[in-house]
Amino acid sequence: MQNLMKEKIQKKFTELFGEGGKFYASAGRINLIGEHTDYNGGYVFPGAIDCGILAKINPNGTEKVRVFSLDFDQFSEFGLEEADAPKESWARYIFGVCRETIKRDGKVGGFDAVFAGDVPLGAGLSSSAALESTFAYAINDIFGNGMAKMDLALIGQSTEHNYCGVKCGIMDQFISIFGKKNSLVRLDCKTLEYKYFPFNFEGYKLVLLDSCVKHELASSAYNKRRESCENVRDAIKKNHPEVEFLSDAKRIWLDEVRDQVPEEDFMRAEYVIGEVQRVLDVCDALERGDVETVGEMMYQTHFGLSRLYEVSCEELDFLNYIARKMDVTGSRVMGGGFGGCTINLVKDELYEEFVKVASEKFEQKFGHKPKVYDVIISDGARAID
Ligand code: GLA
Repeated sequence: MQNLMKEKIQKKFTELFGEGGKFYASAGRINLIGEHTDYNGGYVFPGAIDCGILAKINPNGTEKVRVFSLDFDQFSEFGLEEADAPKESWARYIFGVCRETIKRDGKVGGFDAVFAGDVPLGAGLSSSAALESTFAYAINDIFGNGMAKMDLALIGQSTEHNYCGVKCGIMDQFISIFGKKNSLVRLDCKTLEYKYFPFNFEGYKLVLLDSCVKHELASSAYNKRRESCENVRDAIKKNHPEVEFLSDAKRIWLDEVRDQVPEEDFMRAEYVIGEVQRVLDVCDALERGDVETVGEMMYQTHFGLSRLYEVSCEELDFLNYIARKMDVTGSRVMGGGFGGCTINLVKDELYEEFVKVASEKFEQKFGHKPKVYDVIISDGARAID
């Protein structure tokens, strides 16, 4: 796949801009557990996957950026001042990365670029983080800024906040920069400390089933979830000033403010506090080689995301229900929710049967098959020869 993409990019680059330039790539992601915990200062446990964004980039000695998106078959040209924001929505991610680099005293000059991607759009696999990370990494490299990798992730996150209207956490941009082949990474989103764990579930596979549902207004619903959490955090903080993030709160502290916050916000917080603990439980279980417990935690997360956080949907609940009925080890909605994929931890011997039955039953009910992606844990942002 990547070779084909590389050839196409090379061809277009030569056609538009001639010689020179360097290739850079970054990845989409999965998350084993720890959903909607990042912006609450909790833990996440993601891994980069073998699909992402590939770009060829060359400084052009001007103050203009000229970019071609092969997937949108569109060209965009913009300057580097705040007033120069491009109108193409995909180009705003690249513009945002340039601006956020400049705001951190990084040097950014004009450049030419052609890029393409193979992260399925709207599947909850973070194609936008892959785009931000590719350009954040490349710009840092070609203009010799020497920024730390964590700063590159933060540049991607601020791009979402300030140029794309999503008040996301740091998980997606972190993992698309820091991802490592065959490793999952547990990140403490409060301290930004992280630890690599070998990804090796012998006898099991991770498979994604993409409902192909994409909800409009997902980003405003996402921002609303974040507001609910901050609202509860503020209420708890009145009694416990040490609480900086919702993840700092003990469950009993949440009960103390039950009458002071809307019921809906209470439910959101109840989910988050449970989820923060589940990530730690999963890491302990992994160290013991206890895959069954990992799977059970995934089901608990699904329940919470569906009933308390309310970011699932009928299609995803159905996929989860089929998994449970077929004794699949673990299954849950993955990523921000409001459509997208379930992530499933399946015993090797059940894998084929599960994918077949889930696809058939889903099609009978919803009129189309889910898409199936096998998870291969791969490297994050990098330069490519
Ligand atoms: C999206 C956001 C992340 C994270 C997840 C939910 O992917 O970009 O920061 O909040 O949703 O875990």
